Amino acid sequence: MHKPATPGGSTAPRQPWWRRAAIYQLYVRSFADGNGDGIGDLAGARAHLPYLADLGVDAIWFNPWYPSPMSDAGYDISDYRGIEPVFGTLADADALISEAHEYGIKIIIDVVPNHGSDQHPWFAEALAAGPGSAARDRFWFRPGRGPGGDLPPNEWQSIFGGPAWTRITEPDGSPGQWYLHLFAPEQPDFNWANASVRAEFEDVLRFWFGRGVDGIRIDSAALLSKDPNLPDVSPELPPGPDHPYSDRDEVHDIYRAWRAVADEYPGDRVLIGEIWLPDAARLARYVNPGELHTVFNFPYLSCPWDAPELRQVIDQTLALNAPAGAPAIWVLSNHDVDRIVSRYGRADTAFDLGRRPYFHSFPADFDLGARRARAAALLTMALPGSVYIYQGEELGLWEVEDIPDELRQDPIWQRTGGADPGRDGCRVPLPWSGTEAPFGFSPAGAANEPWLPQPKQWRDLTVEAESANAGSMLRLYRDALRLRRSEPALGDGPMTWLPSQDGVLAFARGAGVTCIANLSDGPIGFPPHAEVLLASAPLTNSLLPPDTTVWLRGLV
Ligand code: GLC
Ligand code: CA
Repeated sequence: MHKPATPGGSTAPRQPWWRRAAIYQLYVRSFADGNGDGIGDLAGARAHLPYLADLGVDAIWFNPWYPSPMSDAGYDISDYRGIEPVFGTLADADALISEAHEYGIKIIIDVVPNHGSDQHPWFAEALAAGPGSAARDRFWFRPGRGPGGDLPPNEWQSIFGGPAWTRITEPDGSPGQWYLHLFAPEQPDFNWANASVRAEFEDVLRFWFGRGVDGIRIDSAALLSKDPNLPDVSPELPPGPDHPYSDRDEVHDIYRAWRAVADEYPGDRVLIGEIWLPDAARLARYVNPGELHTVFNFPYLSCPWDAPELRQVIDQTLALNAPAGAPAIWVLSNHDVDRIVSRYGRADTAFDLGRRPYFHSFPADFDLGARRARAAALLTMALPGSVYIYQGEELGLWEVEDIPDELRQDPIWQRTGGADPGRDGCRVPLPWSGTEAPFGFSPAGAANEPWLPQPKQWRDLTVEAESANAGSMLRLYRDALRLRRSEPALGDGPMTWLPSQDGVLAFARGAGVTCIANLSDGPIGFPPHAEVLLASAPLTNSLLPPDTTVWLRGLV
């Protein structure tokens, strides 16, 4: 059993756990398959809670686990108060929540408020009820333009490609209204100006908080409010009050109400916004007092492996959170973006969701990528605030770019006609043990193969193999997470940049720990110190090699 961390030592005032937590993102479909159907499930997750406790994480964020037709891997929810039968039952979720709590691990779930599934009972009701009905007002139904209403109500494009509108057939069989879906057609957008939508989601929050869930990750959190006039929008218009659907001011009312719900429950429940916004000042508004507790920090996840650019993003992130006193969140990867071993192994080490084909046009050097990923992990875990680890990052998995087309499942692949390979490459099932697929992902004798094929070379990246290898990514993550938990200077708190040469990031975390990341081309010397706490690669002749990070104690 792991005791929850006591940040700041015993004399410091008690801080909410989420201010310094290490949070493991568990993508249920691909984590562990308990029943052998080739798809991860809650039984698999429960069976591996000891692994997560041993890894040293404070919380788990589960991607959506609700009943879903899986048109967008569970981000199309048909019942917000249940568990997808392929994943298990509500009783499994209850057991998982209480078992995780016994390990001192908190549970965060994903709530998707911008859109539901076209199989949600409300959508069926809306289709049956006809134009102008209260049931249709929960979504965005509009007549088409042009002769016969054959053109969509406006020119908005889906984030997954193609038009953001789909036409329905009315109950009497005539060509009917159109409905809005900012993502896939199977994901109709809810109308957040409708009071029943608001009431429903507040009730959903209470349902899960009441079952012991400790936090909510809010999907696509900036998109909920729409301009009811649905005007066309030029691609150049930045998100903000004038944008018809991104980061409108009304969205803050929704989160003030959600915060009031979270505050009804004891034990520091946390609201985390998934918000991609270019303007840090606009992003900062979401952590205003009485709103969300934290917001994801996507500029860091998109930043190239470059010292000045990283430093700028770090400063900007700290500055945006400072006025509200919110802790920063640091994320290197998630289920939507390329895995870091691939990203850092390419000639262009940035990432941008809209330009995946461009990044995939560079070959990835996995050795270089892994070396940088190790250095990035120590850099990230030394920064002030909380850190997210996407499953498989701790094993150094790479982006699988050669998935056969017929096995690809991401709607981005279909909706762009194959121009964008989509996100399946970062969602390949984890390798746990053994020397061939399914690498312990499914039990021995499983009926089905894993839902996406695992590369053969992952035999060297299984949890089993890496546990036995002192130089593995897994051992580095374990060591780093343990130190991060035991060192009061790490996690939440101040940081101070130290003078350093070009290409180097050096900062002190109070008097306790100094972090130095060498992103330059050559080895560098570093200051006299009492102890090397941890290094991402062996130090040679007391020098810090390129693409290496070190944690030091006691500069002298
Ligand atoms: C978020 C999720 C992504 C999903 C989309 C639509 O960006 O992270 O996986 O496809 O929202 O719900
Ligand atoms: Ca299964």
